[in-house]
Amino acid sequence: METIAIASDHAGRELKEDIKTFLKDRGFDVLDMGTNGNESVDYPDYGIPVAEKVSGGELEKGVLICGTGIGMSIVANKFPNVRAALVNDVYSARMAKEHNDANILVIGGRIAGKGLAREMIREWLEAKFEGGRHQKRLDKIKEIEKGMKQKF
Ligand code: RB5
Repeated sequence: METIAIASDHAGRELKEDIKTFLKDRGFDVLDMGTNGNESVDYPDYGIPVAEKVSGGELEKGVLICGTGIGMSIVANKFPNVRAALVNDVYSARMAKEHNDANILVIGGRIAGKGLAREMIREWLEAKFEGGRHQKRLDKIKEIEKGMKQKF
């Protein structure tokens, strides 16, 4: 059974709990990396552990939630091998997988309601990366990570 890591700050906690239920109902194991309190916290403290799991290959997928999703996506995309996609609509969620092979889905807990969040996650999970010309583009991003890309 695949494990998906999930984390949020205080602004995403309520949505995190719903997404956990949704993922478990769909047969996934969920690794909840916090936050689990109600106090205000700093989103990097919760985004980093999830990004590390995906970056290092320990887990294939993660879900991150903060108020807008912006902070979490900035954090996660600092990590090699992470392709974190902030999505606010179902089409983008599907494209995040088909074209970008996103391995972390980021959602704004103050933006998306539970119904939309579930739909976006479902689309992302069910979509398949199309490879081909999209792989070529991801390879160029990988070159940036390797520090080999010169300024043009
Ligand atoms: C917290 O107030 C908020 O700044 C945070 O959840 C997130 O939206 C940052 O990008």
